[in-house]
Parts: sequence; C-alpha cells; structure tokens
Amino acid sequence: MNYPESIKIVEVGPRDGLQNEPATIPTDVKIAFINGLAAAGLKQIEATSFVSPKWVPQLADAIDVLAGLEPRPDVCYSALVPNSKGLERAIEAGVKRIAVFTAASESFNQHNINMSIAQSLETFQPVVTQALAHGISVRGYVSTGFVCPYEGNIAKEKVLAVTEALLEMGADEVSVGDTIGAAAPTDVFETIGLLLKTLPASKLALHFHDTYGTALANVVAGLELGITTFDSSAGGLGGCPYAPGASGNLATEDLVYLLTRMGITTGVDLEKLADATLALQGHLGRELPSKQLKRIVSARQKAACSS
Ligand code: HMG
Ligand code: MG
Repeated sequence: MNYPESIKIVEVGPRDGLQNEPATIPTDVKIAFINGLAAAGLKQIEATSFVSPKWVPQLADAIDVLAGLEPRPDVCYSALVPNSKGLERAIEAGVKRIAVFTAASESFNQHNINMSIAQSLETFQPVVTQALAHGISVRGYVSTGFVCPYEGNIAKEKVLAVTEALLEMGADEVSVGDTIGAAAPTDVFETIGLLLKTLPASKLALHFHDTYGTALANVVAGLELGITTFDSSAGGLGGCPYAPGASGNLATEDLVYLLTRMGITTGVDLEKLADATLALQGHLGRELPSKQLKRIVSARQKAACSS
C-alpha cells in the first residue's frame, strides 16, 4: 500500500473539544492550551468559534482567546463561523481562516444551527464571498457525513451534493465528519469513494469522532483512499452539544502515534503535545480518553519512581 509521506493534522480540540465541556474553562487556560499545541508542532489549529454565545456559552470569549495567542507565522489559527454576525466578529479578531459548517442531514442541521441545509448554504454564500474579499480563507464542514443521530444512515449522494456546494461557493477544503463516531471503514470507502470520483483528494479532509472506537480504522481507510488531511482533538476532547451520545473526537496523540508508526510524518512532538493536553486536563476534572496520553503518563510515573 502506498501511504503518503506526510499528512496534515487539523487540531480541533480548542473548538470541537471545549465547546462540549460543561464547566467554564478560564480564557487564560484556553490560551495556554493552544500555545502549547502550537509549541508541539501543530500548524493548523481551530482555536475557537464565533457562534451565538447563547447556543455555546463556553466559547463566548473567542475574541479574547485569539488576542492572547502567541503570534506564530507558521501556525494558522482558525475559527468556526455560522453567519454574517460571526464573520464580523472573526474579522474584528483578525483571523485569517474560518470554517462554515452544515450537514448532510436536515434534522441534524435544524438541531445544530436552526436552519435547513438549503438555508445554511444561502446564509454561507455572502459570508464566504466577504471572507475571501478580506483575504480570509474558508474551510467547510459537512456533519453527519455517514450516520445521523436522528435519521440513521446518510446517503452518500447527499454528502457529495453538500460538499460540492461548499467547494463551489469558495471553500478550499471540505471536512466530512462522522459527527457521532459511528462509521466503519466500509462507510468511508463507500461515501468518500464516491466523492473522489469527481473531487480531488486534496480538497477533502476527514473528521472522525471515536464513540464506537472506529476512528483510527477509519483514518486508515481514508489514507488508503489518498486523503491526506485529518482532524483530531488533543486528548480526545470533544463531542457535539447537538449530537446526543457523541463522545470525543479522535485523539491527536493516538493519530500521531499511528501515523508515525506507519512511517508518515506529522511534524508533531508527542511528548510536548502530552504536556499541553495534561495541563488542560487538570482543569477538566476528568481523565481524557486518549490511549497514548495514558501511556505517556504511566511511562513518566514509572521513570520518576525508578531511580
Ligand atoms: P438562532 O437562534 O436561530 O438565530 O441561531 P438568531 O439569528 O435568532 O440568533 C439568536 C441570538 O444569537 C441573537 O441574539 C443573535 O444576535 C445572536 P438576541 O437578539 O437574542 O440577543 N447571534 C450571535 N451572536 C454572536 N455571534 C454570532 C451570532 N449569531 C446569532 N455568530 C445560530 C442560529 C446559527 C447563530 C445558532 O444556531 C448557533 O450559533 N449554532 C451553533 C451551534 C454550534 O456551535 N454547534 C457546534 C459546532 S458544529 C460541530 O461541532 C460539528 C463539527 O465538529 C463537524 C462534525 O463533527 O461533524 C464542525
Ligand atoms: Mg466534530
């Protein structure tokens, strides 16, 4: 099998992860977390979200978080934007990349952004046009790309139609999400296989949650299809407030281990990544699910007690 030499990781923990945390995380803790992720070598970090603070109060401090980050010319800090109001705030914060997000399932979209798929695409068109005019690049998300918590299995043709609409509107990349973490590699081959009949792999990213423990298997399916961009979340933080039962995203530590073991370069230092994740974990009051994080903690404890 011809795997790529390197892949791009889009770190979504500060957004997809923290949006789901019940306890308010202080702004300075978020800033330290994101700075730590960048220091570990992550180059694409979705730092926050300009959604309605009424819907996601945890990320109401988006402007302050972005203002507090260490400027690093080689790191792109992006943010989620659902509408023109979100774009105004993103422009004020000086972000250079935004992500608009819709779904392949009508019911999920209604729960998540209170819009039909068609309404969301109508809402995004001027947002994307204005963002591009301001020199801000745009990513798109298609949630419930495989399975929906309300509608069950999603037809691959729906995923293709929404992905094409986002690319035609001006997104340079579309991330197809397994929002509830239920997909298996056969789903990935089928749906992403269809997309690849008309779209280049370079325009697609995969976004797996790990509710049923299938995320890494799905990454391998994606790699076999030629996909080279994967989203993941430090420690396996995450979930989606509007996807009942969805647990964390694929953990970045576990993704980095797998890819490195397969000889694929990620540019991420696993020990430094663990430092950033562990510092955040101290504020969550629970252990994060990443297997590599647990292994690193155990190895550090063993080393500390061995001399
Ligand atoms: P709405 O309530 O239908 O719309 O929300 P609205 O226009 O009536 O707005 C309600 C209030 O919010 C108003 O304030 C607006 O001004 C304000 P009021 O007049 O009541 O005082 N408002 C805003 N404030 C700040 N920034 C804004 C903004 N927009 C409105 N941008 C809306 C519609 C889309 C805004 C809402 O549904 C929303 O924000 N939804 C976001 C939900 C969310 O963040 N979900 C999680 C992210 S998606 C995800 O996790 C999936 C993903 O990871 C991929 C995957 O896993 O599949 C990406
Ligand atoms: Mg997600």
